[in-house]
Amino acid sequence: MCGIVGYIGKKTNIQKVLIESLKKLEYRGYDSAGIAYVNNNKINIIKEKGKIEKLEKKIDCGVMGKIGIAHTRWATHGKANENNAHPHRTGMVTIVHNGIIENYLEIKRYLEKKGYHFKTETDSEIACALLDYIKATTKMSNLEVIKEFTNNVTGSYALGIIFDDDLDTLYATRKDSPLLIGYSENVKMIVSDVSALNSGIKNYYLLENGDIVKLTEKRVSIYDNDLHPVSRKKLNVKVDGNEVDKNGFEHFMLKEIHEESVVLESLLRKYFSNSKTFLKKMPKLSKYSRIHIVGCGSAMHAGLVGKHLFEEYANVETDVEVASEYRYKKVFYDAKTLVILVSQSGETADTIACLRKAKEDGIDTLVIVNVPTSTMAREADFVLNIEAGTEVAVATTKAYLLQVAMLILINLKMMVEREMISIDELDKYLQLFGEVPKKISEVIDLDKEYFEIAKNIYHEDNIFYIGRGIDYAISMEGSLKLKEISYIHSESYKGGELKHGTISLIEKNTKVIVVMTDCDLKSKTISNIKEIKARGADIILITTKQLDDDYDFVSKKIVLPKTNSLFTPILSIVPLQLIAYYVAKLCGCDIDKPRNLAKSVTVE
Ligand code: AGP
Repeated sequence: MCGIVGYIGKKTNIQKVLIESLKKLEYRGYDSAGIAYVNNNKINIIKEKGKIEKLEKKIDCGVMGKIGIAHTRWATHGKANENNAHPHRTGMVTIVHNGIIENYLEIKRYLEKKGYHFKTETDSEIACALLDYIKATTKMSNLEVIKEFTNNVTGSYALGIIFDDDLDTLYATRKDSPLLIGYSENVKMIVSDVSALNSGIKNYYLLENGDIVKLTEKRVSIYDNDLHPVSRKKLNVKVDGNEVDKNGFEHFMLKEIHEESVVLESLLRKYFSNSKTFLKKMPKLSKYSRIHIVGCGSAMHAGLVGKHLFEEYANVETDVEVASEYRYKKVFYDAKTLVILVSQSGETADTIACLRKAKEDGIDTLVIVNVPTSTMAREADFVLNIEAGTEVAVATTKAYLLQVAMLILINLKMMVEREMISIDELDKYLQLFGEVPKKISEVIDLDKEYFEIAKNIYHEDNIFYIGRGIDYAISMEGSLKLKEISYIHSESYKGGELKHGTISLIEKNTKVIVVMTDCDLKSKTISNIKEIKARGADIILITTKQLDDDYDFVSKKIVLPKTNSLFTPILSIVPLQLIAYYVAKLCGCDIDKPRNLAKSVTVE
């Protein structure tokens, strides 16, 4: 997703400062980058397609300046190329933009009639031209120009703006795309994400939708959409340097998988080590008779695990839907429905839209997020923060695992409230949960086995995953992990569904990864394995100690340590994450920043 940086303050190596901050936003995913800075009283723009290191070849770290804006672009309108890269400049205005201007065509036609010509395929250039047009045709102040701009556009935007007639001031505004203001005595910044702030900045403001901001070297002025001065919540920067360092691992993704046992243990110890703290931390859920779980990608896959647990253990009817569908479909809910929204970033546009839809309909909302200052955390009725720490790799691993862990905890809370388990039994469950982090480490320690499996499959064009019940939910996430970082085509199928069509794709040596941890469905899954084996498939089995046997029909078997079936999903995903990692490594892919992907999809 696009990243925005703006700097205004004491004279510095402006190009270097902008580039260094941009690099901290690389994990969001992008395909081009650029900077604009003021030097010798004029705006200079440098842009490049591809990675920031390519842009770096064009910059001069010796150039001094006091103001600049910079951008990493994840293409929405127009190809990924230098011409479409930001910053954009029209007339007296230079901008960087994150979001989608939905009525851009209507504005483009209007401005073309007024004599504007466009040289890019982007909606952002049209936004820039509209600001210039308003400025050129009215006597408005720059703040009023921005206000008028917000009255005329629909869609989402976070904008950094420099006006030629005000080169000592940095302006910004946001609607539905995240933006925050970092500040110290002599430096002010606008950034999409707190991690991009200069190390010298320890405080920041979170902007609300519609806010318009005017920054000078000495002052931060924030206005609401009616240009009334407002104050916003002041927060302290907590980005831990360790979290944006690989600590000796080759990739952030591998580091973050290896962090899974630590972050789970920390979450459980901090909030859920006994029934007393657990019952205090978890919201009251007894009034709800139905649950909707909504998310995108891996977050939705965590929801599939949640559905299985809520229905099988807590006896609560649960539906799961991808946010991009849920936001537009007819939804059947009432005051006894709880909508749970799962989102690592808390900024995914589709999921935010579902949160707002439920709230408009008067339905209670609970979000499971990893960013407590995110839009979703600020707007939901209940917030459960998974505290996974910064996840830099675009492909989620530890955050997904903690999303599942949080859904398990919600499940336990509902079981207690429905008197399906006693407080003593809850304590026993929590004690068993407390043993899971150690078991995760045991699973990770089978590293060499995953590498052997990866060597056997990385040259394949297609790889299948199958599972029944909760194992299907896990196989969905395993398949997505493989696809997003190795670019190998993969499908996940419900085990029983294979013979209704897809089995036609199975031929000699087709690789199929089978997840089999559900005791009640073991014999059925074995039948599915036999069906595909009979057609030549090469089977890799992920199973548990409880279900282990001498399955001579599989070519490779991973046996997970014994644990209560409620916690098995936490363990069964780990081999699939590591197999995907080693396959991608053998394929030579850019594991932490896969092509076309963004860490937080803040546009529709
Ligand atoms: C990245 O590995 C995931 N595959 C991606 O699908 C992610 O889960 C999805 O974009 C939702 O992001 P969120 O959790 O920040 O809302």
